[in-house]
Amino acid sequence: MSEQKTYPVPEAFKRQTLMDRQTYDRWYQQSIDDPDTFWAERADQLLDWQTRWDTVSDWDFKEGRAAWFQGGKLNACYNCVDRHLPERAQQTAIIWEGDEPDQEKHITYQELFEQVSRFANALKDRGVKKGDRVVIYMPMIPEAAYAMLACARIGAIHSVVFGGFSPEALKDRIQNAGACALITADEGVRGGKVVALKANADKALSGCDSVHTCLVVERTGGDIDWDDQRDIWYHDALAKADANCEPEWVDSEDPLFTLYTSGSTGKPKGVVHTTAGYLLQSALTHKYVFDYQDGDIYWCTADVGWITGHSYIVYGPLANGATTLMFEGVPTYPDASRHWQVVDKHKVNIYYTAPTAIRALMGQGDEPVTKTDRSSLKLLGTVGEPINPEAWQWYHKVVGEERCPIVDTWWQTETGAIMIAPLPGAVDLKPGSATLPMFGVQPGLMDPDGKELEGATSGNLVIKASWPSQIRTVYGDHQRMIDTYFSAYPGYYFTGDGARRDEDGYWWITGRVDDVLNVSGHRLGTAEIESALVLHKSISEAAVVGYQHDVKGQGIYAYVSLMRGAEGSDELIKELRDLVTQEIGPIAKPDLIHFAPGLPKTRSGKIMRRILRKIAADELDSLGDTSTLADPGVVDELIKTRKNNG
Ligand code: PRX
Repeated sequence: MSEQKTYPVPEAFKRQTLMDRQTYDRWYQQSIDDPDTFWAERADQLLDWQTRWDTVSDWDFKEGRAAWFQGGKLNACYNCVDRHLPERAQQTAIIWEGDEPDQEKHITYQELFEQVSRFANALKDRGVKKGDRVVIYMPMIPEAAYAMLACARIGAIHSVVFGGFSPEALKDRIQNAGACALITADEGVRGGKVVALKANADKALSGCDSVHTCLVVERTGGDIDWDDQRDIWYHDALAKADANCEPEWVDSEDPLFTLYTSGSTGKPKGVVHTTAGYLLQSALTHKYVFDYQDGDIYWCTADVGWITGHSYIVYGPLANGATTLMFEGVPTYPDASRHWQVVDKHKVNIYYTAPTAIRALMGQGDEPVTKTDRSSLKLLGTVGEPINPEAWQWYHKVVGEERCPIVDTWWQTETGAIMIAPLPGAVDLKPGSATLPMFGVQPGLMDPDGKELEGATSGNLVIKASWPSQIRTVYGDHQRMIDTYFSAYPGYYFTGDGARRDEDGYWWITGRVDDVLNVSGHRLGTAEIESALVLHKSISEAAVVGYQHDVKGQGIYAYVSLMRGAEGSDELIKELRDLVTQEIGPIAKPDLIHFAPGLPKTRSGKIMRRILRKIAADELDSLGDTSTLADPGVVDELIKTRKNNG
């Protein structure tokens, strides 16, 4: 709300920023009035091309089609590594901070170049070539970044699967991608606990005939099974590999990677990003949103298994020749000061995290923060979910000592790069608002009938014109791309989010308006969780909704109907939670399971989730109209049994 307190750009920040308000306004206007000229200038400045493009943009949202910089040739790995060598060979590219505080590595651009070149040759030696899909299932170790860049170097399409996903979830993604190789580690370590990655990979790979190679990085030296035909140690492969690997010059529109993400229906979709547009916009936004300047130490706490890790640990920062910090652990191990100790140890200047982490740390009190120095910090950022004003204030006051602007960045796996966020030297902040659009981004608001809304109001958030890093297709299913993003409002990209635009033109993201949950910043489809629950022999039907959760943002509330003769028990609750863990991963485990005598359905059999959300939220006074239900009595039964839920 505009009457709420605003936070002007601190004077000290204004003096050294890359971009002031006037320049932002001018650039933004040009990017809307003449996008092709704007993006051509940026593409010249920020990327190195082997062959220049012929056409800047060519797109049609009615067909869900977008292409940028066609005719151009480049290589993403070359742009992130090789081209920096003349000036930055001895500069640290990646600071790796291990799970234990005494473990760290500094990898220079020269070392990165050598590792990635050998890794690329190791993949080639196993027959991996341009266009092949390679799945990466790794802990947060530098080899995860090497693996991504090695794929990019030879034109193979990587698909990183978050290390917290289960073997089943991994298998689904490998099969959907038709991958020929998997890159993993023996085990991962997080918060002092071991994650059995290779054992999970073994399970996933049984039945995945397309995978002929499994490259294994030794992280812990723990006991693992081995398949001589398929498995190869990373260190052995690298020792044999040639040190020189010419980058493969790919077309601008050749895919760089796919990344699976959840939607309202069906299994996760493989979001396809292509090379030039993605790299350009991730580099541009990294530079200006984080005000990244030479010598800055930059830390994004995400996992490389998510889009944030792709764009803002690996591609954006490295394309800009930055020093990017990669942390293997969790914010509370060995104790709740860990993040701030890492900030002090490495003199981190820019820190980018998720509201859920801020809320979790806020819950531990101020002392773990205030006992650290943090004077190196100049800028803070958030991503992944709306930030509540209380968490924003704490982050600003306690962590940033009212010195550091906070960039609240709204974007999605599908957008590839930050879409709405303040440029910290240009835009005054309002806690909870992602503020103003990035260059080239034209947000809009729609009413339920598909009419575009003007002025200060709320509605469904759409984007009105293509941007370089937008999703190109859903892997193997272009129709699904059209149905999901371009059908609700023909001619517009539909984000799935609701938003409000205030009197100052500031954007406030209110959260998903579809059946997608945001649990601790992790995106989950209710349909996926329901499919897992109904695999249990005692369950006939399941409906999952989100409810407000103090730390996670949203918690998972599962209504389950029992098969005739089955009984609800603590044992069954445990079995159901284990089942979801096995099918998807621990992040999808329901917080609450409600044995429902029946589910509220319309006469045509559609479950009325609106009512289920109200019951989950305990907002029983505002259930709304229940007269269209096939059996309105179901609602009373649900209210009665609510107290008994697990
Ligand atoms: O609902 C929005 C929320 O996260 C969704 C995208 O999730 P994912 O594709 O996993 O990407 C997360 C990291 C980019 C969005 O549809 N979201 C993301 N950032 C914000 C946000 N909601 C509010 N404020 C944000 N800054």
